[in-house]
Amino acid sequence: MGSGRLGQWLYILLVGVLILLKAEGFNVGITYVVNAVAKGAVCLDGSPPAYHIDKGFGAGINNWLVHIEGGGWCNNVTTCLARKNTRLGSSKKMAKEIAFSGIFSNKKAFNPDFYNWNRLKVRYCDGASFTGDVEAVNRATNLHFRGARVFVAIIEDLLAKGMKNAKNAILSGCSAGALTSILHCDKFRGLLPMSTKVKCLSDAGYFINAKDVSGAQHIEAFYNDVVTTHGSAKNLPTSCTSRIRPGLCFFPQNMARQVRTPLFLVNAAYDSWQIKNILAPGVADPHGLWHNCKLDITKCSSSQLKTMQEYRLEFLSAIARLGKSSPRGLFINSCYAHCQTETQETWLRDDSPTLGGIKIAKAVGDWYYDRSPFQKIDCPYPKFSGSTVLQDGQETTVDNDLELFTASMDWTLVHKIWEKWASNSVGSSDQPLKAALLINYDPTGPSRLLSTIAEQEGIKANPMELSQFVDFVNRNKLQSESFFIGPNQYIVTSIHENWFCARSMNTSKPAGEGAIVMQTAAFLVVGLYDGSIGSASRAMGAVDQFVWQLSRKNL
Ligand SMILES: *[C@@H]1O[C@H](CO)[C@@H](O)[C@H](O)[C@H]1NC(C)=O
Ligand SMILES: *[C@@H]1O[C@H](CO)[C@@H](O)[C@H](O)[C@H]1NC(C)=O
Repeated sequence: MGSGRLGQWLYILLVGVLILLKAEGFNVGITYVVNAVAKGAVCLDGSPPAYHIDKGFGAGINNWLVHIEGGGWCNNVTTCLARKNTRLGSSKKMAKEIAFSGIFSNKKAFNPDFYNWNRLKVRYCDGASFTGDVEAVNRATNLHFRGARVFVAIIEDLLAKGMKNAKNAILSGCSAGALTSILHCDKFRGLLPMSTKVKCLSDAGYFINAKDVSGAQHIEAFYNDVVTTHGSAKNLPTSCTSRIRPGLCFFPQNMARQVRTPLFLVNAAYDSWQIKNILAPGVADPHGLWHNCKLDITKCSSSQLKTMQEYRLEFLSAIARLGKSSPRGLFINSCYAHCQTETQETWLRDDSPTLGGIKIAKAVGDWYYDRSPFQKIDCPYPKFSGSTVLQDGQETTVDNDLELFTASMDWTLVHKIWEKWASNSVGSSDQPLKAALLINYDPTGPSRLLSTIAEQEGIKANPMELSQFVDFVNRNKLQSESFFIGPNQYIVTSIHENWFCARSMNTSKPAGEGAIVMQTAAFLVVGLYDGSIGSASRAMGAVDQFVWQLSRKNL
């Protein structure tokens, strides 16, 4: 101890908090595209479409990022009526201002390649990824299925506002908006001047045609309904609709290979929306067996995790159908996430996800500006060293990045150290600790996306409650706030170099109950003990011994 590590740690936390405040984003007002109404290019309820724009400046004045908002789909009159009078169906219901951060940030430090571009978020309001076009409007429902017209009307409006002089342009989007960016990528290219350098970016838009847990083709039937209801077929790429049923052309795996404009896919292989709505939608899980697992990956049973691993393989084989041509970019990580470019946390911050040491902002920037190609797929969760996947029939060694877990070699070592230490230090009344927890907390990794219990002994901790504890540590208000471990609430009694002590506020034990929390490079170690000052020093010694063994390995 005594290395000044807690000081360093608190400093890092403090800087983190400051960066967070500064990066929280700024608000950008809404622009209604009123002239679109005359073209019949309207939202579900007939209101004008809308976007938010932050103008480019300096060298970025002729560069345009057109990013489409996400928000699922409506597949029939019932679900479209339910959407009609919400922000996803009517510009009358949209917030007048939204926050810009991540890929929308106007600060070089947070968005090095696009900060000075014209940055736009197009509001999603048709319920079919801007593909629909039905002339007739039913009087009774007043539903307008005109998404494809909205897309063109918005691009025309932007061209008139200066995009006709664009030097660089990107069509991007998140989720259903990312699907727009794939489906309309070549159309966007065609609407811009030949001299403009155009590329497309899909963030969480690679929805795959997989069976659900009941074995039904839920998403395939759903997309088929979307395409039928909105009259989308004529606006899907003909290279696909000439070969197969239009409903199937809503799946990127069936049409993205034919996209001629360079396309970059950012996607989690365990995309949380896909797990919840393609793999285990409510209709396929009538007994709610997947309910907790869908909310929190650490609550999945081993058979559910296995099903998710199989889903990942299916996802990767759908990705492989894209081919490996070099204008394609791939950032396929193993987070349980959905949309990673719009938030600073995942786009570019110290602890953002990486593949091969590269964060999403850099991978996309390098690819757009042709500084270097980027095609990386992370290994499965939890990590196994040297995993391989099949891509286009060739075996490719995938990246072995530090992401949710430390590399498996280290992991095996940590596990061994823990087992030996816990059997000597935790459990029975003559041992110094009654319980202990090891929490994956790598301040340089995106562990905050998912606080992971690496090991536990003498306690069955709830990951949700523990994430409150990790938040408490992150907030760095050790002296003024309390935290929970299990049912007990604790207040901090002393703060030291790389550790702190706390006492339970609700113990019934006469000598009290205490906690010792120590930080290592990649973990938080929590030791819980019963008793007095004497037992506190024994407990401290025990935790210290474990931490010392980890720190010798820089863990
Ligand atoms: C509309 O779609 C929803 C969701 O798939 C479904 O539950 C409902 O039965 C459908 N309604 C009609 C009228 O087809
Ligand atoms: C623990 O004590 C705190 C503060 O006195 C109280 O708010 C909380 O409800 C108590 N919890 C239990 C489980 O008794």
